[in-house]
Amino acid sequence: MTIGIDKINFFTPNAYVDLVDLAKARNIDPNKFTIGIGQDQMAVPMMTQDTYTMALNACQNIITQEDAQTIDFIAFGTESSLDYSKSGAVIVQNFLNIQPFARTIELKQACYGATAGLLMARDYIKQHPGRKALVIGSDISRYGLATGGEVTQGAGACAMLISENPRILEIEDLSVPYSEDIYDFWRPNYSDVAFVDGKFSNKKYIEFFHKTWERYCQLSSRTLNDFTALCFHLPYSKMGKKALTPILNQASEQKQQQLLELYQASTLYTRRVGNLYTGSLYLSLISLLAHGQALKANDLIGLFSYGSGASSEFYTGRLVKGFESMIDTQAINAMLDSRKRLSVEQYEEIFNQSWNTDGSQQIYECDFDNATFILDKIANHQRHYKKQH
Ligand code: CAA
Repeated sequence: MTIGIDKINFFTPNAYVDLVDLAKARNIDPNKFTIGIGQDQMAVPMMTQDTYTMALNACQNIITQEDAQTIDFIAFGTESSLDYSKSGAVIVQNFLNIQPFARTIELKQACYGATAGLLMARDYIKQHPGRKALVIGSDISRYGLATGGEVTQGAGACAMLISENPRILEIEDLSVPYSEDIYDFWRPNYSDVAFVDGKFSNKKYIEFFHKTWERYCQLSSRTLNDFTALCFHLPYSKMGKKALTPILNQASEQKQQQLLELYQASTLYTRRVGNLYTGSLYLSLISLLAHGQALKANDLIGLFSYGSGASSEFYTGRLVKGFESMIDTQAINAMLDSRKRLSVEQYEEIFNQSWNTDGSQQIYECDFDNATFILDKIANHQRHYKKQH
């Protein structure tokens, strides 16, 4: 029995800031952002979009009523949760009409949460053949105005349906996790922005990749030449390349060229939305599948997941014949192209808004939010969501 990703999709809010505009407003050379960091645009979530609406919007094009009857495990990875107790998974279950005899949980370990969910889902399907699991990574990345991390902010969600006989990627059994208790990036419960030791976080990311990669090679007896592409968690588009470059000499020259070309293909969507935290690795997979012209069935893809604090895992999958027809590249591009370009002042105004916390009613509206699901209001400390169309 093969198990893996049968459907995948992503959603990002309908507004962005151009990073050349942001660089100019911060008196920074724009080349630092577009070349040095490798980002062009940054998604900006309006008050009508939160971690849970973004998840619902990512799911709604791929989860059919038939899927909703067969899903009995929903794993919701996030590090921008909105409640200490209630999980986003039950909200997703409700609005997608997923049958009620389902296991619904939210998972936290920084950007690694969706990968933990995906690998749990694979094991769950192994134990429950014929059933399906829904795995989501949804986050808003916030460092603060005029901070070093600002250029790596972003927002969005990835959703994946995990099943037997998947039509996109068969996930293999061997994977290598690696964790350490460190403070490279963290967000205490009292803060709505992350704290980060930027250089240390880069260093640990690279170190964790090399530890998991080397152990994976030992355990699998595979080499870099066996891989068609490597996909990375991408907090910004240059990060994965910093990890990949030192191992490139393990492959033939032709393979090095291929890996670099496909790495570029995997970064194209990240360049336009920024860091999705839990969804970021899966956005890089979608970008690879949408832009990697040379990819074909049975190609071996390596995936590196990194969640600060820190947990990581390297695992692998094989592309399934016909995978390209399962990615709606046209719809994704249309979503990105039709977004509203905000001025830096408009972005700052949105960034400084906050949801009510005193229990009084607050109704949210945004004339350029055309998403299917929006946050409608907060009242009595409860969040109310609405399907707009
Ligand atoms: N033209 C071209 N390139 C330029 C330039 C210019 N004018 N000025 C600077 N650069 C280059 C620098 O040479 C550097 O390149 P290298 O990385 O290849 O050396 C690059 O631009 C960045 O410059 P700095 O290192 O000086 O940038 P910085 O001090 O402002 O910090 C950062 C960059 C650490 C990524 C910061 O944005 C940050 O803290 N981001 C958030 C943390 C993060 O994303 N960490 C990643 C690993 S942790 C993780 O993956 C989990 C997660 O999701 C958060």
